[in-house]
Amino acid sequence: MKIVFLGPPGAGKGTQAMVISRELGIPHISTGDIFRQNIKNETPLGVAAKKFIDEGRLVPDDLTLDLVNDRLAAADCKNGYLLDGFPRTLPQAEALDEKVALDYAVNVDVAHDHLIDRLSGRRVCPECGASYHITTLDGAQECAVCGNLLIQRDDDKPETIRKRLEVYEAQTRALIDFYRDKGILVDIDGARSVQEVRADILAALGSDA
Ligand code: AP5
Ligand code: ZN
Repeated sequence: MKIVFLGPPGAGKGTQAMVISRELGIPHISTGDIFRQNIKNETPLGVAAKKFIDEGRLVPDDLTLDLVNDRLAAADCKNGYLLDGFPRTLPQAEALDEKVALDYAVNVDVAHDHLIDRLSGRRVCPECGASYHITTLDGAQECAVCGNLLIQRDDDKPETIRKRLEVYEAQTRALIDFYRDKGILVDIDGARSVQEVRADILAALGSDA
């Protein structure tokens, strides 16, 4: 199955993608995670992407498309994949559309005031990518999956969060209509519990895993 997850920053794409990709037995490909890994390793791609990410802007399409094309050519993508955070512009969506026939575009939507709360309270594991919220951590500072110390993402500062939401409205929201016109859009209300959202997505994908 070939799926993309759409939705504003903080809608829960990463939280859901991590579990659902495992349940469906397909790789979870997050362009944000790949950029952050490159930044950590100080690769040329990471150096180029860092200034855009730190400002809450999108990394240019050419860099992003090269990265995704390389990743989709890997052997583990033969039987499908879950793309999280890509595409994010119309040119990215059109470039993907020329190469692959997607099964579903899952649009997880949440109102902006909730998103600001979610992102400003988010803590992430730099090792395995698991995402938490301070309200459910109960003071814990380590990842429940792998035990690493949790961190706050550099782009989860209030002014950068506001910029990311603006960029989403200006450049990414239009993809909802792009995929609706193709007849593959699934709308999911992301403002409910993690378990409810997960169950809705799996039902929409025709899976009761
Ligand atoms: P990326 O890493 O993709 O960030 P994003 O889209 O801003 O998405 P987030 O990771 O912030 O949110 P999410 O929806 O995954 O939410 P999460 O599950 O963590 O991209 C970062 C940057 O990289 C971009 O700004 C851009 O610069 C660059 N980039 C990436 N892809 C690009 C592309 N294609 N083109 C160009 N540039 C690109 O959840 C958020 C919080 O809410 C967590 O605390 C979580 O625990 C909590 N939560 C989740 N679900 C629920 C729920 N149901 N109820 C309550 N709390 C919940
Ligand atoms: Zn971890």
